[in-house]
Amino acid sequence: MATLIQIADIAQHAGQEVMVRGWVYNRTDKGRLQFLLVRDGTGIAQCVAFKKELEPGVFETITNLTQESSVIVTGTVRADERAPGTPGGFEIGITHLDVIQLADEYPIQPKEHGVEFLMDHRHLWVRSLRQWAILRVRATIIRTIRNWLDEHGYVLVDTPILTPAAGENTTTLFEIDYFGEPAYLAQTGQLYNEANMASFGKVYCFGPTFRAEKSKTRRHLMEFWMVEPEMAFFSLEDLMAMEEEFVSAIVQDVLAKHRAELEILERDTARLEAVRPPFPRISYDEAVERLNRLAGETDDPERKAELAITWGDDFGSPHETALAEMFDRPVFVYHYPTAAKAFYMQPVEGRPEVCRSVDLLAPEGYGEITGGSERIWDADLLKQRIDEIGINPDNYAWYLSLRRYGSVPHAGFGLGVERTVAWICGLPHIRETIPYARMLNRLYP
Ligand code: 4AD
Ligand code: MG
Repeated sequence: MATLIQIADIAQHAGQEVMVRGWVYNRTDKGRLQFLLVRDGTGIAQCVAFKKELEPGVFETITNLTQESSVIVTGTVRADERAPGTPGGFEIGITHLDVIQLADEYPIQPKEHGVEFLMDHRHLWVRSLRQWAILRVRATIIRTIRNWLDEHGYVLVDTPILTPAAGENTTTLFEIDYFGEPAYLAQTGQLYNEANMASFGKVYCFGPTFRAEKSKTRRHLMEFWMVEPEMAFFSLEDLMAMEEEFVSAIVQDVLAKHRAELEILERDTARLEAVRPPFPRISYDEAVERLNRLAGETDDPERKAELAITWGDDFGSPHETALAEMFDRPVFVYHYPTAAKAFYMQPVEGRPEVCRSVDLLAPEGYGEITGGSERIWDADLLKQRIDEIGINPDNYAWYLSLRRYGSVPHAGFGLGVERTVAWICGLPHIRETIPYARMLNRLYP
C-alpha cells in the first residue's frame, strides 16, 4: 500500500511507494514519456510517466491532463539531483494516476501575463509558485510577530473595527452607516490599546486596518494588516530598543525558515542577513540636513529637486529611499515636526514644534514600515491638542478620561505587515503581499 505523503517531506520517502494528492502545475510531453509537475500545497514534485510501465489507458489519461487538473498520483520516490521542484532533487516514477477533475483551459498560462490580468485572476494566481512563496513568507511573518510578542510578555487584546471616531487622519476614513449614525472602519487600534495598556502593561492588537488613501502608490493599500504594541512606562528610547529586536527577529526567522521561498523570489539575502540590532538612529533635523547636503552634491537638477526638503515637510518616498541608502540596515528617524504627525504625540520638552515620534525606514527603498511615538499623557495638553486640530472632543471623551485615572508615560507603534512582506521578499509593489489586495481601482475578486 502506498503511503500518502506531503511533497515537502518527499526526501524522507526515497525508495518508497507513495501517494500524492494535488494539482497538475505543468506537463511536458516527450512522446512515450510524460513529465508532470504536481503541487500539493506543501511543494512541487516532478512525476514521470513511462508508457511501457503503466496499465493500459493510464498513460493516455496522463497525456490528456490539462494544467491545474486535480489528481492522485501513486508512484515510487527516487533521488535524482536534476529533478526540478520544491524541494527538488527527488522525483516520483508514476505507477498509477487518478483524475479527480480534468480542468478546463486554465486562464493563467506559463507565459507572461500583464499585472492587471493577473490581479483580475487573483483567485487563481495565488496558486502560482511566486505567489505561493510570498504568501508562505507572509504567514511566517505573522506567526513570528505573534510568537515574539507572546513570548515577551505582551498580551493580545483585540480592538474594534467599527469605531465612532477617527484614530488617525480624518481624510482617510471609510465611513459606513451604523443604524443611521456615521461610523468608521478602524484606521488603527491605538486609542483602544492605550486603554488596554493600563490593564495589562504591555499589549498588542493585530488586525486589518482601513485607510481611504485616494492615491495609487506601490506602498498603499485600502485594507492592510497592522500589529500595534503599546507599552506602559516606555520612552521613545525604550520603543526603539524594542522595535529593533522585534523587526530583527522577524527578518532572521524568515531567513531561517524560507531559504527556498526567497530563492524562488530571487531575493538577495545578504541585505537581510545584516538586519540585526542596533539600528542607526537619526533625528528628523539631521535627516533634513543629510538630504539637503545630498541634494547640494548632485548635479542632476531633477534629482536635486526630488531630494531637497524644507524643514517641516513630511518625507516623500524619494527622501525615505535616499535616507535608507545611507545605512546598511533599517534606520530610525525620530522627533518629527509636530504639525506633520498625529494629535496624540508627546511634544519634545522645550521644543514643542517637534514630537517624540519615530518611524523606521526599511532599506532598499521600501520606506516606512513602522510608525510610533510617546503619547501625550497629560489631560490638559491632550485636550489642547484636540482643540488645536479641530476634532470633536466629545468623540474622544473616553480617551481623554484615561489621562485622569492613573495616567502614565507610555509609547507604542504600528508595523504594517504588507510593507514588511514587500521588503523581506524584495517585491516592487505591495499588491502581491496580501492575498486579495484592496486598491483605489480594485475591489475584485
Ligand atoms: O504610521 P501609521 O499611520 O501609524 C499608526 O497608525 C499608529 N496609530 C500606529 C501606532 O502607533 N499604534 O501606520 C503604521 C504603519 C506604517 O508604518 C506602514 O507600515 C503601515 O502601517 N501603513 C500602511 N500599509 C499599507 N497601506 C497603507 N495605506 C498604510 N498606511 C500605513
Ligand atoms: Mg506613519
